[in-house]
Amino acid sequence: MPRYRIALMPGDGIGPDVMDAAQIVLDQIALDAEYLPADIGWSFWCCEGEALPQRTLDTLQTCDCALFAAVTSKPKEEAEADLAPELRGQGCVYRSPIVRLRQHFDLYVNLRPCKAFPGNPLNLRDDIDLVVFRENTQGLYAGVEFHPLPEEVRAALAAASPGMAAFAGTPSADIALSCRIFTREGCRRIVRSAFEYAQRHGYPTVTLVEKPNVLRETSGLMVREARQIAADYPEIKLWETNVDAMAMWLVKNPQDYGVLVSSNMFGDIISDLAAQLVGGLGFASSGNIGDAFAVFEPTHGSAPKYAGQYNVNPTAMLLAVKLMLDWLGERERAAALEAAIAAVIAEGKVRTYDLGGDNSTLEMAQAVAARI
Ligand code: NAI
Ligand code: MG
Repeated sequence: MPRYRIALMPGDGIGPDVMDAAQIVLDQIALDAEYLPADIGWSFWCCEGEALPQRTLDTLQTCDCALFAAVTSKPKEEAEADLAPELRGQGCVYRSPIVRLRQHFDLYVNLRPCKAFPGNPLNLRDDIDLVVFRENTQGLYAGVEFHPLPEEVRAALAAASPGMAAFAGTPSADIALSCRIFTREGCRRIVRSAFEYAQRHGYPTVTLVEKPNVLRETSGLMVREARQIAADYPEIKLWETNVDAMAMWLVKNPQDYGVLVSSNMFGDIISDLAAQLVGGLGFASSGNIGDAFAVFEPTHGSAPKYAGQYNVNPTAMLLAVKLMLDWLGERERAAALEAAIAAVIAEGKVRTYDLGGDNSTLEMAQAVAARI
């Protein structure tokens, strides 16, 4: 029996293009693994009314981890219109399958490395090596939201918080509320993951990116927990930065930072900013990681206008494979893959359109495979 079982979810648009690129590299590194294709995405929503079929969850349940490429999502009305005629009006509700995977498997870490590969013409500078740890299950994205504001919620808030007095004159129908919920355990586990990673990979600093001077309770809880955890890692410095200032510092002095850790929404925003410093969507990969399961993906979407043309940059997907290898403990293979990607970029001979070249997705993957 192979050592690993890995699910492959190509999804929609350019998803299958970049998954084919990943397969070329996986074949080359000859991991002792069985690969199981699994259905996900818009095409399954359209014909089955379900973008993440139960059979996919069943397959994932039997796997060590999964590689996911990209899916298409559309607003409510368009989603209904795209359904097969017999499924319309049946109460099918579209929900993002990747968000559901994060919740279903409690994948509480969103790991987003942003490393500049020398020679990438899209780099802001060549000495950037940032890793963002974004909390992936709580905070403002937990889905606890109201509009209009229910009267019982309003009454409870008015009784508990003097801050509500400012809204006393506004009708409930005109108030929308999204809750920012942090738990102590949620803060602890994301911060600890960041420190563990910094220790394992030799980063001297972990920067907590929050806003405790204003968000005194949620960001405040995270800061207090982070200080306690930092005490367990005396060789790593804990830096604390407000998220707004961090946006500025990341553009000004990105080379000064190593591991960054933040809550769900702040982490979402700073990880996109950090990704653009090192070439943007074609280079941004991420891991959704829990205690027992993980899903690795490029952060770009399905780019429908390029679907099936095999012209997009496969690097983000190949870096997702690298993250997966690291997580599986295949450190040598991961390092070899990263070195091969770096060599192809440095050489600059095989480039997709975003890098100013005219090579195909698969040619770039083949060039990487040839360097492993
Ligand atoms: P997108 O990331 O799909 O594409 C935006 C643009 O970025 C593309 O038109 C292309 O110019 C460029 N791009 C993306 N990937 C690239 C690559 N590998 N190499 C070179 N250039 C690349 O974002 P967009 O257009 O906003 O969304 C398209 C669809 O993807 C939507 O349905 C959206 O909901 C979905 N989406 C899915 C995500 C996921 O599966 N995790 C994440 C983001 C968007
Ligand atoms: Mg994002």
